[in-house]
Amino acid sequence: MRENEANGNTTPVHSNQKHKEIAELTKASLPPPQPLPSKGSDEGGEEMATLTLPDGRTHKLRVLKPTCGNQTFIDIRDLLSATNAATFDPGYSSSASCCSAITYIDGDKGTCLYRGYPVHELVEKSHFEEVAYLLMYGEVPAENVRLMFEKQLKSEMLVHERLKNFFTEFLTGAHPMAMLATVVAALSSFFVDPMDLNDAEERELAIIRLIAKMPTIVGMCYKTAVGEPFNYPRMHMSFAENLLYMMFARPLEEYTVDPLHAKIVDAFLILHADHEQNASTSTVRTAGSSRANPYACVAAGITALWGRAHGGANEAVIKMLKEIGDVSGVPDFVQKVKDKKVRLMGFGHRIYKNYDPRAIAMRGLCRQLFEAGTQRDPLFDLAMALEEVALSDDYFVKRKLYPNVDFYSGIVLRAIGIPQEMFTVMFALGRTVGWLSHWKEMIQEQQMKICRPRQLYVGPTERAYISPAEISAERLRAPSPPPRSEPQSEESVSIARQPSDIPRHRTKVVIEAPSIESEYINEFMPTETEMSKHFDFHKVQAMVVKRLSSDRRSTRGEPLGSPFPFIRQSESEWDDHHFNPDDPAPQTPTSRERLDSLSMLSSGSAGG
Ligand code: CMC
Repeated sequence: MRENEANGNTTPVHSNQKHKEIAELTKASLPPPQPLPSKGSDEGGEEMATLTLPDGRTHKLRVLKPTCGNQTFIDIRDLLSATNAATFDPGYSSSASCCSAITYIDGDKGTCLYRGYPVHELVEKSHFEEVAYLLMYGEVPAENVRLMFEKQLKSEMLVHERLKNFFTEFLTGAHPMAMLATVVAALSSFFVDPMDLNDAEERELAIIRLIAKMPTIVGMCYKTAVGEPFNYPRMHMSFAENLLYMMFARPLEEYTVDPLHAKIVDAFLILHADHEQNASTSTVRTAGSSRANPYACVAAGITALWGRAHGGANEAVIKMLKEIGDVSGVPDFVQKVKDKKVRLMGFGHRIYKNYDPRAIAMRGLCRQLFEAGTQRDPLFDLAMALEEVALSDDYFVKRKLYPNVDFYSGIVLRAIGIPQEMFTVMFALGRTVGWLSHWKEMIQEQQMKICRPRQLYVGPTERAYISPAEISAERLRAPSPPPRSEPQSEESVSIARQPSDIPRHRTKVVIEAPSIESEYINEFMPTETEMSKHFDFHKVQAMVVKRLSSDRRSTRGEPLGSPFPFIRQSESEWDDHHFNPDDPAPQTPTSRERLDSLSMLSSGSAGG
């Protein structure tokens, strides 16, 4: 009953015509499940890889081939149980977390296919609702099915009146992504009671509801931000038209949706609809693997999308272009990027090592808008100048950094009057279809193993508890630590911190590495190998790593800079143009730094 109350309907769910149609849709459109290949080894002459472990043991691993592309996938699912060895792959750059038949990207060629269809062709020939159906059900719908699907979507666009109340509590200036994540998670409380994930009809209904209500919620986020009353969706309008109407119609005046703007929004949504196992989609799958409801899973996806490395990049691109100012600022900015002080937002991609086809389409949409008489945005010309300089610069060429979808998408959205803060919300609106297609695929194809990666532990070994009182007492006895504003150059660090400066009773360390040959280690490390009780242990260990790291690089002829290139440089690059190279280094090493120190020590090359 609750789900019907949401739309002001009090008739039982399954006597409703709408729900009969859902059942029909569900039956008509279910593609045959494609279960994961079974685990196991060397059956039926399959191609196998052999792993040889350091102790000489060998293990056979199945080799899997995708339907597109020439990559080889090595099935390691039984590796840990069979050998007690695990793989280490932070950021999953070399790991496939699932089988999927939704989207295929060829990063070298710069192609992106939705269920086999090139995305740029879908932008030209299809529309968002049809693409949503294609992504979710695997095929372009027959005309009658398409009409039924679109009718279903429209009939679910209204939200419960009480959902509006959530918006009244947001402060003026609250980021619309915060609103979106909150309200989408709150939708669970209107519908889940509890949802049976094994029921295909229930899943289908939840998916249609979520996709349908998203533009309404997005419109409400925008209206809350600008302090105007909400608009309700209209049955005769398309998805894109409804979105523009709910955002821009005002009670005081007539509003007619500009057909070009609706076309641009439609194209934008298609281009953002899916992109295989990106951070937010993987988050949705991870949340779904715990059997969380789809509203909660999509809310998780929204939060993962928010960051600047992912969906937040579109907003960051516009901020960056505004900071550059005009074409004369490009060379200085590019130099800053090459010095790793900032990142060129909207450039680079984990998969594309060529031009992102979505960026080409976005740039085309900008042109279309300006050619049709929309006032030309100087940021567009600036972006093109920046692209030209970057694409002819060795730094970008060597790293295969090309514009991604976000480089021009903000300019497209600005041209149709969508403010910067709404950009990532627009991305989320399109991507909801992809998230739900993956959620559906995961359940339908029984890929529901809970996501639970392993970790390579680099923390303290087991130790006896020390009470805060004991820690304080020991601190009182110990000399006070040096002030934080210590010199930062490599040279001054090594001069200022001679081993004798370090109170030995505060530097008890266990290094679990087979060989420790460095003289620095011997100098710095006490003979006792017990874990330190103090945070100063971290300083000492960090400094050891710093010395070793700079020594290694000086022997390789590399410039001395940050001792932990990954950590420090990426922090500075991300620091939104506020990077200060004189900032003191962090006092506490990260796991990564500890890991670096351990691997340096165990490689035996430490200390030159
Ligand atoms: N500007 C400058 N240098 C870059 C950039 C960039 N945008 N992207 C990567 N690099 C450099 C990076 O410094 C590193 O150099 P080095 O080898 O000297 O250390 C190298 O290229 C590899 O970078 P990475 O960070 O290890 O690559 P990744 O695959 O982990 O990161 C990325 C991919 C998208 C996070 C990254 O390219 C980036 O930060 N781009 C800017 C943010 C952005 O536009 N994000 C939107 C992505 S597309 C839309 C979406 O899916 O959300």
